[in-house]
Amino acid sequence: MDAMRRMRILKQHVQTDRMLGVGAVPRGSARVLDAGLEPGGDPGKASDSGVSGGGVSGRRVGLAVMGRQEKIEALRVLDEQEVRNCKKCVLCEGRIQTVFGEGDPDAPIMFVGEGPGQNEDEQGRPFVGRSGDLLEKQIQAMGFDRSQIYIANVVKCRPPNNRTPLAGEVDACSDYLRRQIEIIRPKVIITLGGPAAKLVLGVKEGITRIRGTWHEYPGVEPAVPVMPTFHPAYLLRQYTKENRAMVWSDLKAALTRV
Ligand code: URA
Repeated sequence: MDAMRRMRILKQHVQTDRMLGVGAVPRGSARVLDAGLEPGGDPGKASDSGVSGGGVSGRRVGLAVMGRQEKIEALRVLDEQEVRNCKKCVLCEGRIQTVFGEGDPDAPIMFVGEGPGQNEDEQGRPFVGRSGDLLEKQIQAMGFDRSQIYIANVVKCRPPNNRTPLAGEVDACSDYLRRQIEIIRPKVIITLGGPAAKLVLGVKEGITRIRGTWHEYPGVEPAVPVMPTFHPAYLLRQYTKENRAMVWSDLKAALTRV
């Protein structure tokens, strides 16, 4: 085992110890229940599953990241000079406006959804409808405000009738998300729903199979750990105790990397 890998594993152990000693960031069951989630999921489950090559947070140590102002500027330029004028696929024809993404450029956590819906298309902001309300509660249950994390989508324009984006549309848009991730360098990405997980990770398995297990977004170096979970819209439709417990378990697992 090389020294770098040993160091990464050591760091991960220290992180895990800290987590077990103090408890992960979640701040109490009241907020958790508010968020439509259930406390008491197995905190170790998803984090124990590990990512191949593990210790991803360790790999980030020593990384030359952009300063906050540079990030803000880079994101602004990407949005204003490229995304807003984008005509790379047919989705541009039906949009009211593009939905670039928003949040803290230094966010430790980045949520990635599938694509804007009607509310998002109208307001130019991600997750502003009912799904957004639930997502916000989940974020608060994790101990953060919405302004402290970053929220983006795989595609930046609303697909007609909210259909899943087609492969060509995802391909056309994928470099925007990749560059957002490269600029922000979150410690963890949480994908929301099956399509987002498939599109971000290029996996074929359904969300029920892959949620709660660590993956990696390979588009940037070093790769960013990814935790897939259910989409808030799905949770609203299937508001069962089991589903809420699974999402909460996934979110807690993600917190162990932060
Ligand atoms: N669903 C998504 O996947 N993204 C949004 O921005 C809103 C709803």
